[in-house]
Amino acid sequence: MATGDLFNSNHQLKPQFINGDHKSDVFARSLSLRRQKIAQQRRSLPIASVEKRLVEEVRKNDTLIIVGETGSGKTTQLPQYLYNGGFCQNGGMIGVTQPRRVAAVTVAKRVAEECGVELGQKVGYSIRFEDMTSISTRIKYMTDGLLLREALLDPYLKRYSVIVVDEAHERTVQTDVLLGLLKDVQKKRSQNSIGSSNNYDFVKDANNVKEGSNEVRKFNPLKLIIMSASLDARGFSEYFGGAKAVHVLGRQFPVDILYTAQPETDCLDAALVTIFQVHLEEGPGDILVFLSGQEEIESIEGLVRENIKKLSEANQKLLIFPLFSSLPSEKQMKVFTPAPLGFRKVILATNIAETSVTIPGVKYVIDPGLVKVRSYSPDTGIESLIVVKTSKAQALQRSGRAGREGSGKCFRLYPESRFEGLDDSTVPEIKRCNLSNVILQLSALGVDDIIGFDFMEKPDRMAVIRSLELLYLLGALTDEKKLSDPIGRQMASLPLEPNDSKALILASQFDCLEEMLIVVSMLSVESIFYVPRDKLEESRIVIKSFSSPEGDHLTLVNVYRASIEFLEKNKTENNNEKVEKNLRKWCKDNFINNRSLKHARDIYKQIRENVERMGLKICSCGDDMLQLRRCLAASYFLNAALKQPDGTYRVLANGQIAEIHPNSGVRRTKPECIIFYNLVQTTRNYVRNVTRIDYLWLAELAPQCYALKDG
Ligand code: CDP
Ligand code: MG
Repeated sequence: MATGDLFNSNHQLKPQFINGDHKSDVFARSLSLRRQKIAQQRRSLPIASVEKRLVEEVRKNDTLIIVGETGSGKTTQLPQYLYNGGFCQNGGMIGVTQPRRVAAVTVAKRVAEECGVELGQKVGYSIRFEDMTSISTRIKYMTDGLLLREALLDPYLKRYSVIVVDEAHERTVQTDVLLGLLKDVQKKRSQNSIGSSNNYDFVKDANNVKEGSNEVRKFNPLKLIIMSASLDARGFSEYFGGAKAVHVLGRQFPVDILYTAQPETDCLDAALVTIFQVHLEEGPGDILVFLSGQEEIESIEGLVRENIKKLSEANQKLLIFPLFSSLPSEKQMKVFTPAPLGFRKVILATNIAETSVTIPGVKYVIDPGLVKVRSYSPDTGIESLIVVKTSKAQALQRSGRAGREGSGKCFRLYPESRFEGLDDSTVPEIKRCNLSNVILQLSALGVDDIIGFDFMEKPDRMAVIRSLELLYLLGALTDEKKLSDPIGRQMASLPLEPNDSKALILASQFDCLEEMLIVVSMLSVESIFYVPRDKLEESRIVIKSFSSPEGDHLTLVNVYRASIEFLEKNKTENNNEKVEKNLRKWCKDNFINNRSLKHARDIYKQIRENVERMGLKICSCGDDMLQLRRCLAASYFLNAALKQPDGTYRVLANGQIAEIHPNSGVRRTKPECIIFYNLVQTTRNYVRNVTRIDYLWLAELAPQCYALKDG
């Protein structure tokens, strides 16, 4: 073994470097070149010329709104300016929140590199299921949802001297809740302020401060910065009592906008054709394509790869980079590496690339004009992900990405007349999502009156009532709409949707927590199976070997178990890289998405730690899946549906009619009664991740919702 290793490394080193010194010389030179280049890039960013002024404004104003075009340097530079400006003295941190995981991770890595520090030291990030910070972290990028969770443990957010809410224009539900919370924290901290902002005193036990206690706690005031790419800062300014707004001017080159003559029926196909049209007919420059999700990205990735092979060798110099949230973070960074000389990059991204991250080198944008969003109907109580047309503001942001470094072109895959009909801007998410998670979190923070909470924009009253009802049915809230103990409190402490948290808590009573952990982890990632279009038939046979006739949840357990078994068998390999490679091949042979599976394994580990800490009993039901199915019925009872004479299903809780999704393993067996995990609306209603249950279980296990009729 040892001899083999030695031989290999010698063999690799020999042709490149004559001796060690020479190697380190080359290395040092390329490192210092990269440093110089980064320093020069930083200096040339539009925001660099106003560094002093920005720091001064933050010093003068407790709340400041910074508006600036995407790519001007807000996210990467401002926190560094503040750090250098002394805002982290005496141990305070600068927290920067992002609506998206990918942005938090990639930006933190970039900033760590700019500062010349190791990631996780001075500069770090923290997102759900991944913490890359240490006690020395001073600039911390995180998702807005994560900061909300921190507030549960640290209601005054006393570790932070500055909080920057970035990408506020996106108005995600977490951002909106966070803004309300921060407004309150800021007020409380300034009421108990020690006055001088140079004299930071981080009180260690502020958690113990009780209202009405005689103890007087002193905090340094909280500096709050709201950053937005949308030029209209009025809404934010009014919400924060007339807070000052400053504009950072960007640099924008002209972008040619091209429309299709006719509406396109197959967007993926149109995008594919346009990618190759640009590649073969246009000058140098990278291509950025906006797609609605991981599935679309991966299927178009396959198609582009196939089509490249058909080109002449000279034209094959096209590199593909996918970019979406659940992509492992080491893969996310690759998209920022410039293409080698003579090559062109094509980046297939979700709307992450709209404003959250800026990829250098983009000259062509392909915009099918669609985006996947959450949608909630208070009437049915069902939340679903739907693909809708972008707003005008989004279309403009997207096309703007082509004009960052020079003039560019944007191909909108729809006719010009459609653009005119688009909404001006996107409706804030809080107006179109299930609020039960938000309500649970706010209740855990002591906010019981949701309707009275100071939101920037109030959620729909009916949606609030529906969500309260759901939490009540799940046992998270008491009759007085207070958080129940222990169920509600336990649910709030898990970083999951209320339904999933409840399923885990119940599973420990049904002796199947081990399996439910697998189910919840596997359902947290998008599409475990990956089937290329040309292998549909072949894949059916392979997937069948995992498939359970009882339900998709059970199939997911089978896949997970099989992958663990495979890893166990390979353990003797003693070579991680080889194990990874074998696993990749195993996944490919079995039409499993390797990335998704890995992500699910990470999530599994994290939630397992969470439930262990909560003291839940982790038991496996072995092959007795009846327990698991009963537990699913007891947890997802609102998602129960009965078969209709015509073979469709009627959701019991609201009468909605839906079909079983074509990807489901029970589509053929059509059980009488099912529970499903989610409902997707495309041209039809589909329920996905479906498992057979016995309808009698509903009255037995969810009597708060169902009763048997007499006779
Ligand atoms: O936040 P804002 O949109 O104003 O800009 P930013 O994200 O701070 O980006 C500033 C510059 O850093 C852009 O030119 C990006 O291309 C560059 N950047 C990069 O090269 N690599 C990263 N991982 C992140 C940003
Ligand atoms: Mg930014």
